[in-house]
Amino acid sequence: MAFPKKFLWGGAIAAHQAEGAYCEDGKGLSTCDVIHGGKGRIAEILDPKAIRANIEKGEGYFPEHIAIDFYHRYKEDIALFAEMGFKVFRTSISWARIFPNGDDAQPNEAGLKFYDNLFAECAKHGIEPLVTLSHWEMPITLTAKYNGWASRALIPLFERYAATLFERYKNSVNYWLTFNEINMTLHMPFLGGGVIIDNPADKDRLSMQACHNMLVASALAVKACHKIAPAAKIGSMVAAACSYPYTCKPEDVWEQKNIERMNYYLTDVQARGAYPEYAKKHLEHKGIKIEMDAQDEKLFAENCVDFVSFSYYSSCAVSTDPAITGVKTSGNIFGGIQNPHLKSSEWGWQIDPLGLRITLNYLYDRYQKPLFIVENGLGAKDIPAADGIIADDYRIDYLREHIKAMKAAIEEDGVELWGYTTWGCIDIISASTGEMSKRYGFIYVDRDDSGNGSLTRSRKKSFAWYRDVIATNGEQL
Ligand code: BG6
Repeated sequence: MAFPKKFLWGGAIAAHQAEGAYCEDGKGLSTCDVIHGGKGRIAEILDPKAIRANIEKGEGYFPEHIAIDFYHRYKEDIALFAEMGFKVFRTSISWARIFPNGDDAQPNEAGLKFYDNLFAECAKHGIEPLVTLSHWEMPITLTAKYNGWASRALIPLFERYAATLFERYKNSVNYWLTFNEINMTLHMPFLGGGVIIDNPADKDRLSMQACHNMLVASALAVKACHKIAPAAKIGSMVAAACSYPYTCKPEDVWEQKNIERMNYYLTDVQARGAYPEYAKKHLEHKGIKIEMDAQDEKLFAENCVDFVSFSYYSSCAVSTDPAITGVKTSGNIFGGIQNPHLKSSEWGWQIDPLGLRITLNYLYDRYQKPLFIVENGLGAKDIPAADGIIADDYRIDYLREHIKAMKAAIEEDGVELWGYTTWGCIDIISASTGEMSKRYGFIYVDRDDSGNGSLTRSRKKSFAWYRDVIATNGEQL
């Protein structure tokens, strides 16, 4: 049997993409509450004027305001996860529910209570929560006052937020993650770190500074977790961008190597306890001086994560040839060059199950720590048939092939993998487009891209399939 007996099968969502109730029970406005949906979402996130206008005026449809109303429907949803046999459920906590402005004197009791109830519901069904402290959202006040993670002022605020959560949930949560896809802050500073960049020439400096500040906060969270909840495990989380040199030309290989290294330098700090030399040189060559405290390096060295988690959806190719670099693929926001050997999803994300085995081996070789796949799945348009049934065989095919790749990595390569949470186990708002129609779930939610629909939940064909996968511990695919 390939999968260990205690393998954690389950699914994942994030607070802002699911909960809704954006201003209920004392919650403050979050960064994700001021982003519109649609194809222009990424451009909007990168446009300082648009973000400022949204914060000031707040006009138009903001999909996260209601999302799928998980805040009021979590009992029904968790019961459905339990029906599939979930062992683990990954979600995040909305910082603005706990500290509405980020720097409030006291936490918001109603916000804390919501997560008490949520974790109690998980426990009732024997489901282990896996909780991200910060998944692409934070109180908008922290952007307005400090320009988000660009400022070190956020470090003690986050430390207090994290300690508040560890104290409160130390008996109900055993698995924590610090920041979702920390490397994405380099590409999407507002989404990942609440940072608005007015001068594009400042993007590298500010985003790398924001990441440094997040690394310090992440190490402090690890320290607090180990002290307050010593039995719990806390991990890092990176968007694993599996890439291949387009050709065997040494220049292409070297280019791919450099892209890969810059993708993992933040995880290097979290998992190995120090900035790698190549990252220091990169900063030096770019003329970027990161503001650091004398204690930062010691803090990194003493507070490494217990495990490394990652998201994996697709792979891309890398080339130095301008004739080839024109053919782009979309991928998980950063994209790359289209690989002619792979097929793409409807959103242009290239489907590559072997890339998952390659990534598992690569990360295990690099960090020699237990791994956790906390996001994987296929975003697709699901069209219910006349009888209402959604026969999402394309999703089943995608997941089956990726699970086979995990199996091979465990069985044949000896990778230590703790668990697997498919992304968007129930349909939620897409992070990159704000659409509802980009669906990942085993459970269909009746809601469209403009916010119409009854929010009724129904089981797709993949629901029964995944239930059987879990019941047989990955034997029946
Ligand atoms: C990851 C994020 O990058 O990809 C999720 O952590 C996100 O929040 C997921 O939803 C899938 O991306 P998208 O844009 O299809 O929702």
